[in-house]
Amino acid sequence: MTDLKKVILQGIPSELPEKKKRNPNISHAPKRKNILNKEEKQLAIRNALRYFPEHMHAILAPEFTEELKTYGRIYMYRFMPDYEIKARHLEDFPHKSKQAAAIQMMLSNNLDNTIAQHPAELITYGGNGAVFQNWAQYLLCMQYLAEMNDKQTLVLYSGHPMGLFPSHKDAPRVVVTNGMMIPNYSKPDDWEKFNALGVTQYGQMTAGSFMYIGPQGIVHGTTITVLNAARKIDATAKDLSGKIFATAGLGGMSGAQAKAAVIAKGVCIIAEVNPKATYKRYEQGWVNEVYKDLDKLLDRAITARENKEAVSMAYDGNIVDLWERVVERNIHIEIGSDQTSLHNPLAGGYYPVGMSYEAANKMMVNNPDQFKTEVQKTLVRHTNAINTLSKRGMYFFDYGNAFLLEAKRAGADILNEKGDFKYPSYVQDIMGPMCFDYGFGPFRWICTSNEAKDLAITDRISCEVLEKLIQDSPTEIKLQMSDNINWIKAAGENKMVVGSQARILYADAEGRMKIAEAFNNAIANGELSAPVVLGRDHHDVSGTDSPYRETSNIYDGSQFTTDMAIQNVIGDSFRGATWVSIHNGGGVGWGEVINGGFGMLLDGTKDADRRLKSMLFWDVNNGISRRSWARNKEAKFAIKRAMQMNPELKVTMPNSADEGLIDSLDL
Ligand SMILES: NC(=O)c1ccc[n+]([C@@H]2O[C@H](COP(=O)([O-])OP(=O)(O)OC[C@H]3O[C@@H](n4cnc5c(N)ncnc54)[C@H](O)[C@@H]3O)[C@@H](O)[C@H]2O)c1
Repeated sequence: MTDLKKVILQGIPSELPEKKKRNPNISHAPKRKNILNKEEKQLAIRNALRYFPEHMHAILAPEFTEELKTYGRIYMYRFMPDYEIKARHLEDFPHKSKQAAAIQMMLSNNLDNTIAQHPAELITYGGNGAVFQNWAQYLLCMQYLAEMNDKQTLVLYSGHPMGLFPSHKDAPRVVVTNGMMIPNYSKPDDWEKFNALGVTQYGQMTAGSFMYIGPQGIVHGTTITVLNAARKIDATAKDLSGKIFATAGLGGMSGAQAKAAVIAKGVCIIAEVNPKATYKRYEQGWVNEVYKDLDKLLDRAITARENKEAVSMAYDGNIVDLWERVVERNIHIEIGSDQTSLHNPLAGGYYPVGMSYEAANKMMVNNPDQFKTEVQKTLVRHTNAINTLSKRGMYFFDYGNAFLLEAKRAGADILNEKGDFKYPSYVQDIMGPMCFDYGFGPFRWICTSNEAKDLAITDRISCEVLEKLIQDSPTEIKLQMSDNINWIKAAGENKMVVGSQARILYADAEGRMKIAEAFNNAIANGELSAPVVLGRDHHDVSGTDSPYRETSNIYDGSQFTTDMAIQNVIGDSFRGATWVSIHNGGGVGWGEVINGGFGMLLDGTKDADRRLKSMLFWDVNNGISRRSWARNKEAKFAIKRAMQMNPELKVTMPNSADEGLIDSLDL
């Protein structure tokens, strides 16, 4: 047995390991709010000590007290393993169950130092998207996964491994719940408090569900968005070529905009106020050119549009300066958006115009009231420029970053005469009707051999499957199908793999099932050297109930319910998922969304074939049926097609009321 296997099987060590210093070479989570009173702090320490035998308590209690004081949380740094945490070949993990080994691989990828945002605090992305709350939970979880067999299920309560429970071979090996609160205890400060107590965590979407695959997911999703935005404004457009997409943000997710626009063959101009972020993306090749001089940038963009170049250029400065100059020069911009971090406007998410980045950072700390005023004044100017350009023909959409909401809070002219926002969100106009309602969403797979060779084989197989399917696809979804074929053909070249050998592809139910079936066959006949994990982002057709994002194009009032996401995860769990997860929060914040997902191991067996067909069909059609019941035209089309494909499916269809009749009622 390798040393790695021995250490994992040991779980929480019986002797105290050496105390560890924080590694200064990796990024650490910011200090969290000091929210607990004395009794609650005692409870937090008591809770943390539950993981360890009593003889360790005299040393650990003061150490955990210090962590709580210094960082606002107890991470148990001393118990961080000495080995490198990363995705490895499935066989490198100790296991009795291959399914459990695959889960070890996936969660290790989420905590890889080169991938995770704050690895020592077990945060994968999004500032607070946690895999576990502390290192004891990690050690215990890995040990359970190493020991368990295919007739047991590991139960995880917000990262805490409650234990292994007898189940059966078709049951999930792991059931994950993250941040599940009694609804009245779901305000942001409740997260601070109960997370500090060590009893809950914010799992984001793919962090606490072990499904993060690095930036590839966001690049693909953004490519799909900008491609479809171009088609929305120009029915003859195949892609973004000959069009300018102007936006802001070269940060974590926003940085994908520049790369995606180039993949979509367009011209992208993108403002970023933090030079470090700009030059990081430039060095990485995600943005092609950087300008300090606005006029030079705009001249270059106009020429690039004329020449139909695919190119991205960063403006090293504030987005409001960029928009106002575009207005002054009366330049036509086809598509506009914004991905500054407006979900967090007063603590570094959005920078006021007219001052340097450094000066803004100082004001934020030293004079928060003045900073708020400056942010709100900037938002008013920002909105005015967007309004002018929209009147001149620009198509503007909100990119899920709370731009519309914060502009409204700032008193900007952002509402129409009915009191609604003047502009749609990207899901309302683009992703909802053009993708989710037809069942297209961020399906993904990961090769457990951890070898690029296997990934290349899966790319080829999936492309062959789609090329066959497109021949009989109805016209309504032909474009989506061909986008996916183009993406998968260029996927290797785009070099998007970071960490595990993973691929993302927007596919509908039929595409997902046929691709999965072909992978399973390729594992059975030895073409693929090891099993493959299937999964998806929670940001999908059925996975997420989020009234201002994923379900913002639901107009029957049910966008504030969360039956769909809950039904989804329950349904996946008894149809063969290898693991399931359900989260409070993800993307737009704790208390604002419920989202869930699954992982499924394909091992080339007949059982896997049965499970994939049963589960993937449900996993997509659940959401389509709900979208159809909300009277969404595209979803009604898609669910009728699904019923034809499988006569066992019978979905309640909505009738439409006559609008004249409704208007005539004396209400
Ligand atoms: N990409 C997507 O598909 C997607 C989906 C949903 C939501 N979002 C939202 O997009 C936002 C951005 O996410 P992120 O991970 O990139 O955040 P981030 O904080 O890493 O990046 C935002 C960037 O905007 C820059 N910025 C702030 N104010 C600016 C200004 N006035 N002018 C120019 N640049 C400015 C910041 O310096 C920062 O680099 C978040 O609110 C996120 O929730 C993105």
